[in-house]
Amino acid sequence: MTAKRSASADFWEPRYQDADPGWGRQPNIRLVTLLPRLALRPGLAWDIGCGHGGDALWLASAGWHVTATDVSATAVRRVADAAKELELSDRVTAQRHDLSRSLPQGTFHLVNACYFHSPAPLDRNRILRNAAARVRSGGCLVLIDHGSDAPWSWRPDGRELEFPAPAETLAALALGPGWRAEMCERAERAATGPEGQTATVTDNILVLRRV
Ligand SMILES: C[S@@+](CC[C@H](N)C(=O)[O-])C[C@H]1O[C@@H](n2cnc3c(N)ncnc32)[C@H](O)[C@@H]1O
Repeated sequence: MTAKRSASADFWEPRYQDADPGWGRQPNIRLVTLLPRLALRPGLAWDIGCGHGGDALWLASAGWHVTATDVSATAVRRVADAAKELELSDRVTAQRHDLSRSLPQGTFHLVNACYFHSPAPLDRNRILRNAAARVRSGGCLVLIDHGSDAPWSWRPDGRELEFPAPAETLAALALGPGWRAEMCERAERAATGPEGQTATVTDNILVLRRV
């Protein structure tokens, strides 16, 4: 656990303090649909940048033992509280980490990173490479990234944000021959904003298996 505040914590902590605690408790639909195709038996999972824990809680309810990490102490506390409410505390370990400074212990059958993006400075590729190093043989690193943002998303200068294509992320991670890319694609989905507004957005999906 990190004690000192960081630029990431300074950006994210107030946002979680202001957020409705019930927001972000649903799992990412991409994860829900792709996980059964990975032929992984429920084991040890790590949810990077877990937010309010939608994915971590869903994985735990499906039998996984999940380490859920986030830089926001408020988000981490809410995930632990939700796990207790749902009687999943024995399967969810919620820990605060600024992942540029510290990582949870252990190795995992599944490492999941959904929308692990940040307007605060974030050495994302280094963190993801460190996370990949914790994936067990036969296990998967799942990255569900934004490919485009929604009009209601946080836009510092009002312009649409740009994100690397999945193949660019794959190349930037440069994980080497011990990995097989099982999915490297873009997919559109309908998104609904906080006031019920709708838009079509793109997700970038990478599934990398350690062979
Ligand atoms: C866009 S949100 C995605 C949250 C969640 N995974 C989801 O899909 O709803 C990015 C998350 O990454 C976390 N985060 C950002 N920088 C981080 C860092 N350096 N270490 C750990 N978590 C970080 C944020 O607090 C936030 O919860």
